[in-house]
Amino acid sequence: MKLVLKSLAAFALAISVSNCGDKKETDAMGNTVDETTETTAAQPETASDPLLAKGQELFEGKGTCATCHKADAKTVGPAIKDIAKTYKEKNASIASFINGEGEPLVDPSQYEIMKANFVITKAMSEEDRKALETYMMSIE
Ligand code: HEC
Repeated sequence: MKLVLKSLAAFALAISVSNCGDKKETDAMGNTVDETTETTAAQPETASDPLLAKGQELFEGKGTCATCHKADAKTVGPAIKDIAKTYKEKNASIASFINGEGEPLVDPSQYEIMKANFVITKAMSEEDRKALETYMMSIE
């Protein structure tokens, strides 16, 4: 019984690890975990738009954005929904902003803290920046 629980835990861990990266992971049994089928059940809205799913993955993973931005509460940075609202109102582009091509529209007094992240986002591909924008703009 204990052994069964242990392998279940290892399996769950393997799945959660596979959700963070974009490479396929193997589970405790050595089988490839197909992350598209593993994640779609919990997040149906990301299943329909691959760019949105990629954006969320980058936001929470490689981009480290989630450390400072929560969906609907201000923490270190403004809430994602407040950023999305401002960018919609002003018809501005998050993808351009995180490529260092824009002025801060949400909280200019804290811009220096955000600016430090451009090292990460400028090194990304244009598609990755667009994916981050798609994800952030989807939060209401
Ligand atoms: C160390 C904390 C921190 C991290 C990590 C961080 N941000 Fe920010 N972010 C901030 C702060 C503080 C602001 C408010 C300053 C501002 O508006 O520029 C902000 C503002 C923003 C804005 C609004 C900019 C504007 O027009 O005012 C966007 C868009 C944004 N962040 C995207 C991101 C993305 C995408 C990532 C991940 C690649 C990220 N942030 C990571 C702290 C952070």
